[in-house]
Amino acid sequence: MKRLGTALIGCGAIAAVHLQAIAKLGLADLKAVVDTDETAGRRTAHQYGCDYYADYRNMLKRSDIDVIHVCTGHYLHAPMTVDALAADKHVLTEKPMAENKASARTMLEAAAKHTSVQLGVIFQNRYNPASVRMKQAIDSGELGKLLCMKGIVTWHRSPQYYETEWKGRWATEGGGVLINQAIHTLDLLQWFGGEIESIKGSISTDALEGVIEVEDSAHAHLVFASGATAVFYATNAYGVNSPVEVELVFEQGRLHLLGDTLYLHRNGTSTVLSEPVPNDLGEKSYWGVSHGYQIRDFYEHVLEGRPYPLNGPEGYKALRLVTDIYESSRSGQRIRYTSP
Ligand SMILES: NC(=O)c1ccc[n+]([C@@H]2O[C@H](COP(=O)([O-])OP(=O)(O)OC[C@H]3O[C@@H](n4cnc5c(N)ncnc54)[C@H](O)[C@@H]3O)[C@@H](O)[C@H]2O)c1
Repeated sequence: MKRLGTALIGCGAIAAVHLQAIAKLGLADLKAVVDTDETAGRRTAHQYGCDYYADYRNMLKRSDIDVIHVCTGHYLHAPMTVDALAADKHVLTEKPMAENKASARTMLEAAAKHTSVQLGVIFQNRYNPASVRMKQAIDSGELGKLLCMKGIVTWHRSPQYYETEWKGRWATEGGGVLINQAIHTLDLLQWFGGEIESIKGSISTDALEGVIEVEDSAHAHLVFASGATAVFYATNAYGVNSPVEVELVFEQGRLHLLGDTLYLHRNGTSTVLSEPVPNDLGEKSYWGVSHGYQIRDFYEHVLEGRPYPLNGPEGYKALRLVTDIYESSRSGQRIRYTSP
């Protein structure tokens, strides 16, 4: 099978998770990394034995590079993705797709125009064994109809976390806890629940007032076309990074995800359906092992010429939910999904 040539833009916190996954793949060769911070970029290039570029546009001129991983701040996802697709490169961008819907739409348009290449959006938690099992329970109907769900994210982010060129500001991050940390859980809720009928939500800055201009806390209520409902709460104002909790209540049982452990409660008994997969991410273990699963799946689709399902339109869904909670919080109104 042909091996793909790969490059990564943005050698910051998440880059190593991508670079280690690419190295383990056996399907691709890392050709280059890009970072405007020359020290970070050259260090990473040296560590992984590849070329370094300060300007991604120079890297895009290379014909031996097929796939670009976009691992920069949110506001850079759209311009980098649009340029890479126009240069005939496949793109796998980190979540959120972009810092707002207008930027994300430029990516959707570019992907629709350049049909010889594919756009994928990282939502690695869909690949967690527990998430796959929960989706299977919904699709198979083994526990009856899905009635309601809850998603709870109680994490900690210090003022120092926001001391970067892009975090904590509407223009560059596009929001706070919702668009950055809790978007994974919102994405799971919409993936599990299917077509959305309406959402109402609210945001506030409870602990980091004066430090960030975006929200550190949010809550929402969702109604799905199936009749199922969901409640959602997220904050970066907790004292620690607590395990994320997702509960799915069915007619004949209840699935409860706590961190990476999935419990089934049914007929008065409790069973463990899925346990954590060990990883070496230390205190960032909540990032999970699933980046590797998603990156492999994307490359296999590209190599086999099959359309990758977690594409632009699919990645846009969670971003839309996030921005609708912002809009609902501003207006005090419920947002109804009558149009796309
Ligand atoms: N999927 C997950 O679980 C997960 C976890 C963490 C971060 N992320 C996402 O990964 C992305 C990056 O986050 P991070 O925490 O690694 O950010 P970061 O700030 O640590 O790293 C960003 C890097 O991009 C570089 N950069 C800035 N401008 C650039 C430019 N014009 N060209 C090239 N490089 C440039 C910076 O110098 C920095 O090294 C974000 O979208 C974030 O939401 C995802």
